Amino acid sequence: MIQLHLEKVRKWFTEEHEKRLAPLAEFAYGELQNRDRDAFGKGWMSWPVDHHESLYADIDKIASDFRAKSNVTVVIGIGGSYLGARSVLSMVQPEFTREGKHEVIFAGQQLSPTYHAHLLKYLDSREVTLVVVSKSGTTLEPSAVFHTFRDYLEKRYGEAEASARICAITDAQKGSLRAYADEKKYATLPIPDDIGGRYSVLSAVGLLPMALAGVDYRKVMQGAANMRDQLAKVAITANPAVQYALARHVLYQQGFVAEALVTYEPRVADFAGWWQQLFGESQGKDGIGLYPTMLQYTTDLHSMGQYVQDSRKVLVETVLDAFIDDAPELKVPVGLDEKNRYLENVSFHKLQEVAVESVMIAHSEAGVPNIRIEARGDAESLYGELVYFFEVACAFGGYLLGINAFDQPGVEAYKSEMRARLQK
Ligand code: PA5
Repeated sequence: MIQLHLEKVRKWFTEEHEKRLAPLAEFAYGELQNRDRDAFGKGWMSWPVDHHESLYADIDKIASDFRAKSNVTVVIGIGGSYLGARSVLSMVQPEFTREGKHEVIFAGQQLSPTYHAHLLKYLDSREVTLVVVSKSGTTLEPSAVFHTFRDYLEKRYGEAEASARICAITDAQKGSLRAYADEKKYATLPIPDDIGGRYSVLSAVGLLPMALAGVDYRKVMQGAANMRDQLAKVAITANPAVQYALARHVLYQQGFVAEALVTYEPRVADFAGWWQQLFGESQGKDGIGLYPTMLQYTTDLHSMGQYVQDSRKVLVETVLDAFIDDAPELKVPVGLDEKNRYLENVSFHKLQEVAVESVMIAHSEAGVPNIRIEARGDAESLYGELVYFFEVACAFGGYLLGINAFDQPGVEAYKSEMRARLQK
């Protein structure tokens, strides 16, 4: 269940703004729903309710083969081919609950020589399988890391067995990874043509890592489908994804520079990383767009909290107030010193709730607009709901800004610079 709360932003985003923006919102929503417009980037919109039984069968088969053969799978990818999978695994199987489970380790999300050398050493005492994820098949980081790890597997297991331990998730027809995977007879799974990297977590890109980790991905898909239904049923004036996008649009127009997704649960922090890429790559173009950043409270209240409260008022906070009720109740025991008696017998749930409320009051009264997204439910469905909610908000927000939310031309510049230097 997701609910949007705008009370602490009403000073900046008024009903008057909503009225004034209504025609633009209607237009932008129409553009979003128009499947011929930017069709190449909109496959994610109906994906949660499309028919995927044969894809699920392939995913389940590969996952069960790999789980039987290995106790670690290294998943190689970057950007949209990595952040979603990482975020869902963190949220659905939090820290301290992974012992004895099939391990999924990410690689190729950077070029660190030490990270990859240490990982290869770590793998020596384990049984290993490999998943390489790249829609284009040409991205430098995963490509370099994949060939290094493929080489490692071939030396360790021999070429034929190494090939049986590798799965490539890439375009169904084109690209050099597709050609290479076919030649080597790897297991493969497709990334649909009309779903871009950062919108792809509910495709095989996220579903295979979930299946490998033993996560019930059908529940995640159901969560996304439920959110799709919920958004489709309401008028746009009552559509929470639309309202969220409108609020941040108005704040951007008023001169706010950055938006922080604030999380309170460590297991949700990686979701903020997925959200950051979604908005950063989709809307940060043509010299416009809010800079998406993330804060993890209450930890960061003791570092960045000072800046947020007292410094320049350039920041909007969007509080992802997620409560996943799958842990036993924990209370502060009695026997504290005199000063802290008010904490006795208070549950951590209550403490967290009071922290969210208090911080929102303190920050909004100091001039920091606060949007709250209340999210409750089991981790799998909630993850699916949140993904769909933010994808709609982001793509719709792109039409409000008049930019294309499905391309990322700016990412090319550093790549060509690197290529030129390496070719010298
Ligand atoms: O959202 C995007 O399209 C990008 O972040 C890509 O996912 C990222 O650049 C990786 O691309 P590829 O999957 O082609 O290796």
